[in-house]
Order: sequence, then structure tokens, then C-alpha cells
Amino acid sequence: MMLLPYFRVATLIFFILVCGVCFCQSGSSGQKEPVVPLPEPRLSGGLSVEAAFNQRRSVRQYSNDALNLTQIGQLCWSAQGVTKKIEKPFWLPEGREWIGGLKTAPSAGALYPLEIYLVIGNADNLSAGLYRYLPAKHALKTIHTTDLRKPLSEAALDQGFLTQAGVVMVITGIYERTAVKYGDRAGRYVHMEVGAVCQNVALQCESLGLSTVVVGAFDDDQISQVLKLPGNEHPLAILPLGKKQ
Ligand SMILES: Cc1cc2nc3c(=O)[nH]c(=O)nc-3n(C[C@H](O)[C@H](O)[C@H](O)COP(=O)(O)O)c2cc1C
Repeated sequence: MMLLPYFRVATLIFFILVCGVCFCQSGSSGQKEPVVPLPEPRLSGGLSVEAAFNQRRSVRQYSNDALNLTQIGQLCWSAQGVTKKIEKPFWLPEGREWIGGLKTAPSAGALYPLEIYLVIGNADNLSAGLYRYLPAKHALKTIHTTDLRKPLSEAALDQGFLTQAGVVMVITGIYERTAVKYGDRAGRYVHMEVGAVCQNVALQCESLGLSTVVVGAFDDDQISQVLKLPGNEHPLAILPLGKKQ
């Protein structure tokens, strides 16, 4: 009888611990893993860069096949993966988070103004929803788990093929990251960088047997609303990623 209160306290502590672990794993989004690690990118492939140039074409008809995490990881890495670790450059402002190195695409002053979002509709082992690529971790941060392809396509002047591709990449830019060093030239630098990233992704698609098209025709405010972007972050390009139909 004397042991009963201790047993109750132990049960209560056990219950609290189990609940705590479950909450940490599910996060507030209800997703099992708020941060999804991606498979290591491969550093060689079967297609030469010249063959990729030669066969790249804009595609506007996709099968809704699921992409797997290996393909998704490779595409994110081609866009903004960290390829060479270096110390934080001294000109980066105080408090500016450093991603740990240089990336697959060049960036004026290594200031990296671009962010990569994935609107997932159909992927293996990944719920439909909105994710942000974390270059330093080579992982995806879950933002929420609602398929946004339809509202995204509506915000892109109803370009319906954005609802067909299993995954849609949205590239955004934060101009002030570049403006701290380059002032008025920041706009042009950020736009040059988006072009480089789009071409990396297009050529990586070719090498993976996938297709894309650079979509620049969209309503900026509507896209910002769909993705709930902060005021200083602007949508710059959209790339459907999928198998050609
Ligand atoms: C900055 C930019 C914006 C574009 N915007 C769109 C678009 O909104 N919708 C679309 O279907 N294609 C878009 N395209 C794709 C072009 O139409 C395509 O690249 C062009 O027709 C040449 O074909 P190719 O890419 O197969 O060589 C865009 C391309 C670029 C570079």
C-alpha cells in the first residue's frame, strides 16, 4: 500500500516523458519529422554536361509520378547545395547566419540571397506540403502539410502544368542580403544568381531523366500569399520538377 503513491508518480513521469518525445517528433505541424534529412548527393552521373545542354528542353506536360527523396535531394543540392566548407567571410554582417561554405551556384560576395522552397504534391516518403531547403544540413524543413500546387498554379496565371508535376520548386530572394555589400547593384546580382540556379536545376533534371521549365509569369503578391513569405522575401522563379508525359 505504501508503494502506491510512488507507483502513481512513476507512471505520471513516464507518461509525461512519452508525450514529450512524441511532441518533439511530430512538431506543431503534425508531421512526423519537421526536418527531413536528404540522401547524400551523388557527385557523378551518366550524362555529360554537353549532352545535358543539347537535350534540355522546356517541358509543359508532366505525369504526376512521385519523385523519390534521392531525386529531390539531388535537385535541391544542384540549386543551392554546399560544396566547399569555408569560414564565415569577414564582410558578412553581425548576426547573419553562415551556411558553412560555398554552394553549387555562384553568389555575389558569397552573400547567398536565395532560398529554395518545394511545393510537394507527390513524393515517396514525404507528405504533400510546403518545405524549405536547409543547405547547411542538406535537409528539408517542413513548413506545413497541405498540397499547394493548385493555388500556386492559379497564382502563376493558371499555368496548369504546375499541378501535374509531382514537385514544384520556388526560388525566392532576399535582396537586402546582397545590398549590404553591393547597394543598388543588388537587384541585378540577385537576378543573375537566379538564372544560374535555374540552369543548374534544368541540367540536373536532364541527368536524372526528369524535366522542368523556368516559369517567370506569375503574380508576385499572390505567390507570396500562397507561400506566406515574409515581407522582405520575393518569389523569383518557379520550376515544376517531374517526368515528361
Ligand atoms: C526568365 C524566363 C521566364 C520564363 N517564363 C515562362 C513561363 O512563365 N511559362 C512557360 O511556359 N515558359 C516560360 N519560360 C520558358 C521559355 O518559354 C523557354 O525557355 C523558351 O520557349 C525556349 O525553349 P527551351 O527552354 O525549350 O529552349 C521562361 C523562360 C525564362 C528564361
